Amino acid sequence: MRNIALIGFMGAGKSTVAELLAEKLGATLVETDMEVLRLSGFPSVNSIFDTEGEEYFRAVEQEAIREAVRKGNCVISCGGGVINSVDNIKVLKGNAYIVFLHASFDAIKKRLKGTDTRPLFRQEEKATLLYAYRLPLYEKSADVVINTDSKKPEEVVKLILEKFRPTNAN
Ligand code: S3P
Repeated sequence: MRNIALIGFMGAGKSTVAELLAEKLGATLVETDMEVLRLSGFPSVNSIFDTEGEEYFRAVEQEAIREAVRKGNCVISCGGGVINSVDNIKVLKGNAYIVFLHASFDAIKKRLKGTDTRPLFRQEEKATLLYAYRLPLYEKSADVVINTDSKKPEEVVKLILEKFRPTNAN
């Protein structure tokens, strides 16, 4: 099976959807954030940002993306910033069907309320700017865009499958 990569802002539902999708397809689930932790040996994304900085995180993330696409038969849940790198986009485009899970900033804010695992969502004002900056990058990189605002993860999975394998979606 061709790899499927889920892209989108923090809180777009990539992890939940990726898990369900991988199960449905009998594919391997890859979470780039988890791979970054494995490759770096750090216990959390916060600890990487706080001690090594974003640049280091992005370098390991780049390695994680490359490793993931090489495996094949994977559903890859990409960290929200993966599309910041032209190289990452190139690698994903050549090796995966790219699904952009779109969510409005309001929906994202609600979903992330009370969580503190995302260093780039610590300040709402900065996160708003980042969202606006990234939106066109997600759109440009995607093979398909799915709006997730009022959808359950199961509905999102169904839509992805309809697009990915239109003849026998279930
Ligand atoms: C980031 C998103 C996070 C994680 C890191 C940076 C970003 O992943 O990779 O905190 O730059 O948007 P999720 O999108 O899975 O939250």
